[in-house]
Amino acid sequence: MGDKATLTVDGKSYDFDVFVGSENEKCIDIQSLRDQTGYITMDPGYGNTGSCYSSITYVDGAKGILRYRGYPIEQIAEQASFMEVACLILYGELPTQQQLGRFRDAIAEHAPIHTNLEHHFSGFPKSAPPMAILSAMLNLVSCFHPEVLEVHSEGRAFNRTAALLLSKVRTISAFSYRMAIGKPINHPNPNLSYCANFLHMMFSDPYREYIASPTVERALNLFLVLHADHEQNCSTSTVRMVGSSHANLFSSVAAGVCALWGPLHGGANTGVIKMLEDIRSSGHSLDYYLDLAKDKSSEYKLMGFGHRVYKNFDPRSRILKKRVYEVLEELKLDDTLLDIAIELEEKTLQDDYFLSRNLYPNVDFYSGILLRAIGIPLDMFPVMFAIGRMPGWISNWRELLAHKQRISRPRQIYTGEKLRQYVPIDER
Ligand code: CMC
Repeated sequence: MGDKATLTVDGKSYDFDVFVGSENEKCIDIQSLRDQTGYITMDPGYGNTGSCYSSITYVDGAKGILRYRGYPIEQIAEQASFMEVACLILYGELPTQQQLGRFRDAIAEHAPIHTNLEHHFSGFPKSAPPMAILSAMLNLVSCFHPEVLEVHSEGRAFNRTAALLLSKVRTISAFSYRMAIGKPINHPNPNLSYCANFLHMMFSDPYREYIASPTVERALNLFLVLHADHEQNCSTSTVRMVGSSHANLFSSVAAGVCALWGPLHGGANTGVIKMLEDIRSSGHSLDYYLDLAKDKSSEYKLMGFGHRVYKNFDPRSRILKKRVYEVLEELKLDDTLLDIAIELEEKTLQDDYFLSRNLYPNVDFYSGILLRAIGIPLDMFPVMFAIGRMPGWISNWRELLAHKQRISRPRQIYTGEKLRQYVPIDER
């Protein structure tokens, strides 16, 4: 605290505290605004509204910076395992070998799911969207582990809940895929890494055990690491919003899955591939699609472009673009969608519409091509995003409670009818 900001309204001046974060981000604390002045602020979409103080993730959208707990995403993406990153995001520090070993053991312990919970999968139609299954099943898990309903758990109890959730989300996701393709489920193998175990549960068959190549395992690890947290995005804010009523962690993240599902958020990775496939098969030129995206009378958008915060470049997209080339090469795959994506990006970089609006590829633009290369089916893409985002959701939920934040309850400005009198139905 230090400086004050002064607001003059209706001829009177009011002072508000100014707060500066550790990276020099500034805010005006207007918590007393309505009580002092009778005014509220209006900010639909919350583009200028800070909803919390957080020490988890730092994003500088103008400079294209992303850091988890202070560590640059470029270093983390290059060197860390998803389990290490989960520990970092959850507990604030990189784990020691011993801490990581204990964390991995807890993840392995919680990987199997209760047989009665397993039966619920057969109640879903084959065509059920995997995100609907994931959200429903995450809520169901808590019925089988009532201890996770405790909202104010600390220490070991919280560690157990966090590991249980990170582990179950992986098993549930893989099982839902097996059910959808009408194949038997593969039980988790405690000897495998987080990523290799997921790939085994997805792709092993009774007659052929799937063994992930180091390239595939590393690619999946990178995908999960890059999605592990991204401060107050739509789904994380949803998790916080739900958690602010002291709803338990599982129902809060189940709500996060629903928020993530939308095509403007985690559903965009599916949207990108559909768009690129459409471009490939339609016979229309790229300019046709660019014109469509620029045409304000059409609802068409370039999927995987634009971001509320990044106004320069999304560092995750740069990392993914580089890695996609390497993965395709290492796996000896040729994906013509990558050529289309690159040409599309190049065209937008010479187009005033995109340049003047700072619309650059976001994390979803190249991630789908990576997921395709490692064999993940299209409708599972947002589920992969949800698995990756789990450490961030858990950590934000916990931080909200630790900060004893008030229940989320925005205001509105009413624009409807003024007071009028009820008329009984037979007199109307
Ligand atoms: N294609 C064409 N025009 C766009 C696009 C796009 N993808 N994105 C934004 N614009 C235009 C928008 O119409 C507006 O134009 P104008 O100023 O003429 O009205 C201008 O750019 C500013 O956009 P905005 O609507 O203020 O942006 P926003 O911050 O409200 O929305 C967004 C951000 C990511 C939802 C949006 O850019 C979008 O819909 N992108 C496509 C979907 C997508 O890729 N989503 C993934 C986001 S990154 C991962 C994640 O967080 O989930």
